[in-house]
Amino acid sequence: MLFFIDTANIDEIKEAQSLGVLSGVTTNPSLVAKENVSFHDRLREITKVVSGSVSAEVISTKAEEMVEEGKELAKIAPNITIKVPMTPDGLKAVKIFSEQGIQTNVTLIFSANQALLAARAGATYVSPFLGRLDDIGHNGLDLISEIAQIFDLHGIETEIIAASIRHPQHVTEAALRGAHIATVPYKVLWQLFKHPLTDQGIEKFLADWNNANK
Ligand code: E4P
Repeated sequence: MLFFIDTANIDEIKEAQSLGVLSGVTTNPSLVAKENVSFHDRLREITKVVSGSVSAEVISTKAEEMVEEGKELAKIAPNITIKVPMTPDGLKAVKIFSEQGIQTNVTLIFSANQALLAARAGATYVSPFLGRLDDIGHNGLDLISEIAQIFDLHGIETEIIAASIRHPQHVTEAALRGAHIATVPYKVLWQLFKHPLTDQGIEKFLADWNNANK
């Protein structure tokens, strides 16, 4: 399973990139709105830092407008992936993007049937939202298992991005259940590095070393 970072903050992206574990970036309108910058300028900055897939979401709701908007976004850099919401119009747009060789990420996936439809429309990625399903009392991780099993059974190449990740356990479980990618908030990325026994172990090694070399 690969790691993407789920943010539009350029400092977070640069820091995550420097860790050497990053394969891509996902953004959404809410994340971009927090930044108070021009969307296209920010995408230009991000694609200079990260060579993997950078998801940029369309705001339009009609297929034709999504296609126009997505084509403009795709001109920014070859690694832009057009993020499209899981609606009939969204999937019409995905079909057109896929015929034109433009990568797509179908977002706001909350059921296996939605993922299957998106895949059949030609989506490069589907993004099931774990945390938001958990929020309404469902088990978001079960959705990853279902989609992974269906894609595997039917030889579907669309990749699963585990999204709306809230904590490290989501990441471990998403990997175990067959997600190809986890897109993680910056805070969760740092949490993945941490273990109290690692910190204690380093402290003890250094203390022993210093005692022996007084
Ligand atoms: C995915 O691409 C979305 O940007 C994101 O994971 C949504 O997460 P949230 O539910 O924490 O807003």
